[in-house]
Amino acid sequence: MTRPRSWPELLARLRAPVVLAPMAGDVGTPALAAAVTRAGGLGSLGGAYLPPQALRAAIREVRALTDGPLLVNLFAPQPVPAVTPDTVAVATAELRPFHDALSLPPPTLPDRVQEDFGAQLNVVLEERPEVFSVAFGPVTPDALAALRARGILTVGTATSVSEALALHDSGVDAITVQGGAAGGHRGGWQEDALAGTVTLVREVARATPLPVLAAGGLMTAGHVRAALAAGATLAQCGTAFLLADEAGTAAPYRHALLEGTRDTVLTRAYSGRAARGLRTILTDAVTHPLPFPHQNALTRPLRTAGAHAGQADVLSLWAGTGYRQAQATGAAQIVAGLTP
Ligand SMILES: Cc1cc2nc3c(=O)[nH]c(=O)nc-3n(C[C@H](O)[C@H](O)[C@H](O)COP(=O)(O)O)c2cc1C
Repeated sequence: MTRPRSWPELLARLRAPVVLAPMAGDVGTPALAAAVTRAGGLGSLGGAYLPPQALRAAIREVRALTDGPLLVNLFAPQPVPAVTPDTVAVATAELRPFHDALSLPPPTLPDRVQEDFGAQLNVVLEERPEVFSVAFGPVTPDALAALRARGILTVGTATSVSEALALHDSGVDAITVQGGAAGGHRGGWQEDALAGTVTLVREVARATPLPVLAAGGLMTAGHVRAALAAGATLAQCGTAFLLADEAGTAAPYRHALLEGTRDTVLTRAYSGRAARGLRTILTDAVTHPLPFPHQNALTRPLRTAGAHAGQADVLSLWAGTGYRQAQATGAAQIVAGLTP
């Protein structure tokens, strides 16, 4: 298939106004991305935590399954904040009982706390997904120019009108507008008011001429219809796909979602950055997390071991406020159910 060279050309390819929200970690598998694209939506890969070779392999796996469009998402590189031995000692002490309970060695901060964004971006430039999206800030003008030169459409993430205007000025092709109900990390970079999705979409659609991808709490065709009526071009849904057959959601995570007994909370316990997920023992116990990306690196061994041991309470159970409406079925059926 020829590549879409503009946003309208991309839209003309889609049969459903649904973007699979990129989901870094185990949830967003290549099989899920391909299934959403094959169902007429825009499939995606959340590549933020993947080393370059794994990111390349994941993109190629999707390409082997479908020749339809693909979105790849990364986190804008963050200045790595300084941490002191004292703050590290406090943060590791909070995690220690959970390590002991799983017979893990005591938590230690690794030397390397985030992937090399430049190397990840090079993979994107070489593999040329149709769309690239970024969270946690705009990318540099050089990066944007390089993406453009490769014919890759670009999307930034805003949680407010001022972030949307800044992204517009940076030169992106479209904006994901993330309301406060959304699962996973807050995707902006300024103080976040957790605005209602439909209201924020309406405001951003009025304030900028760019296409808007509405994200946050869109779980039904009715929700998607409301977001489109407010001015969105597409609905970016994450939580609606957490129970998809093709998702990599770990068994204890699925179980907690299906049980539906936990509330969602905004927490920095797992990564040091605000994210919405199901309340766990860890979201209650961790009160002094290290700043992102240190805490994310610090909690990784615990999360990995917890998944193997079937212990939901040490996992980051990212989910939006609408998670009880998620359907455990095939991704194609979920796309159809979200389509007005
Ligand atoms: C498990 C999970 C992982 C996520 N990972 C990412 C990510 O890597 N990059 C990103 O831009 N957004 C990520 N998000 C946020 C989504 O892009 C989107 O804003 C959110 O899923 C929309 O709200 P909803 O979950 O209510 O559908 C993630 C969301 C979830 C639920």
